[in-house]
Amino acid sequence: MKLNEHIFLIGFMGCGKSTNARYLSRVTGAEQMEMDQKIVEDQGMAITEIFAKFGEPFFRDLETGLIRSMKGKEPMVVSCGGGAVLREENVALMKEVGKIVLLTATPETIYDRVKDSTDRPVLNGNMNIEYITELMEKRRPKYEAAADIVVATDMKNTREICEEILEKVERCH
Ligand code: S3P
Repeated sequence: MKLNEHIFLIGFMGCGKSTNARYLSRVTGAEQMEMDQKIVEDQGMAITEIFAKFGEPFFRDLETGLIRSMKGKEPMVVSCGGGAVLREENVALMKEVGKIVLLTATPETIYDRVKDSTDRPVLNGNMNIEYITELMEKRRPKYEAAADIVVATDMKNTREICEEILEKVERCH
């Protein structure tokens, strides 16, 4: 299936945005964009370093700038940072140029996927199921309000998830 607009994968850290973006990029032939990775490359700094040196609002501005720059580009599969849709401005910019797909997973699944990672400043020092549950609940209304499509990922493999995404994206036009 060829994309005619961007697909933005959103959702909590560890919900599978990068893995599914890679697969979707392969099956659609559309380029994959990893927002976090692009920001790291552009700034020449790790995410933890950007947060520590310049603070979270500065990082959020970089996310907004990156989303704004996607207008007019060939359709891409974009793996967004977990906090990218916390700003309404970002959601509006995404909706102008593509479809927003929310991937969900239970806090237990998320914890299992992120527990060994140290490059997520939002979770550093708070790497436990209770904190993940709390933050997820806090963000849930924003994730749900932003989403054009929701796909639950628990107990599904990448192929199943991506087929569901593409089916729903097609129906959403
Ligand atoms: C963040 C999620 C991270 C990264 C940054 C902040 C968040 O991306 O953008 O650490 O606030 O949820 P992933 O969701 O790809 O881990």
